[in-house]
Amino acid sequence: MGDFLLECSNLNINFGQNHVIKNLNMHLLAGEILSILGPSGCGKTTLLRIIAGLENPSQGNIYLKNHKIFGPNINLQPSNRNIGMIFQDYALFPHLTVEKNILFGISNLEKKIQDENSERVQQLTRLEGLKDRYPHELSGGQQQRVAIARTLATNPTVLLMDEPFSNLDASLRLSVRMEMEQILKSSNTTTIFVTHDREEAFSISDRVAIMVEGAIQQVGPPDQIYFWPNSKESALMSGNCDFI
Ligand SMILES: Nc1ncnc2c1ncn2[C@@H]1O[C@H](COP(=O)(O)OP(=O)(O)O)[C@@H](O)[C@H]1O
Ligand SMILES: [Mg+2]
Repeated sequence: MGDFLLECSNLNINFGQNHVIKNLNMHLLAGEILSILGPSGCGKTTLLRIIAGLENPSQGNIYLKNHKIFGPNINLQPSNRNIGMIFQDYALFPHLTVEKNILFGISNLEKKIQDENSERVQQLTRLEGLKDRYPHELSGGQQQRVAIARTLATNPTVLLMDEPFSNLDASLRLSVRMEMEQILKSSNTTTIFVTHDREEAFSISDRVAIMVEGAIQQVGPPDQIYFWPNSKESALMSGNCDFI
């Protein structure tokens, strides 16, 4: 166990005969954005769901801030992990306004703290002027900012994002991505960001992890992965595709 914010060791999960996560090891440093880049079906969503506590691995350990949250005799409930997850479709409540969506996850807190948190994340995500709108009255990029605001209001130790730009028009993706990077960096939010799009992965992250068939093939800063892929799979994912 190192001095990491999050550490997964030797994770395995099977769905029937399908061995989806295979002896997977990874760690996360405080404040960093790590992207997990891999082809569709390699197990990225499953890995996020395991970290959030929504799936139980058949084997392995997970540590959060040096406390074991999953292991042979330990399985901390999702609600006690303080991990925020943003799903592909944002999963906003359609019948609640922007502000009510944000307050929903922190309704257990004292009213004054709720309002402070809500105010803080609305500023961070520039949603102040939109707080009384309903999700259907927002653009895709704005909806995504609400999803981020709602999660950041809970002060998660780690934020997990599953292909967060895949529902946006191509013309919006770049600006929304830059906006999100700005939000994550200015709030110093430790994030795991999953994508199958190498440009997204390389542009947004401090480190990139290449995932192939349920395991991490290579991890490093974007330029290192790009210029020194350690395998054919890494090279294919990072776009360096002349094999000799
Ligand atoms: N709950 C489940 N039950 C059975 N198979 C699953 C389940 N979740 C995922 N899988 C399978 O695990 C593999 C990896 O899926 P997933 O984690 O969604 O990949 P990715 O997000 O990288 O596209 C796929 O073969 C998928 O069919
Ligand atoms: Mg997925």
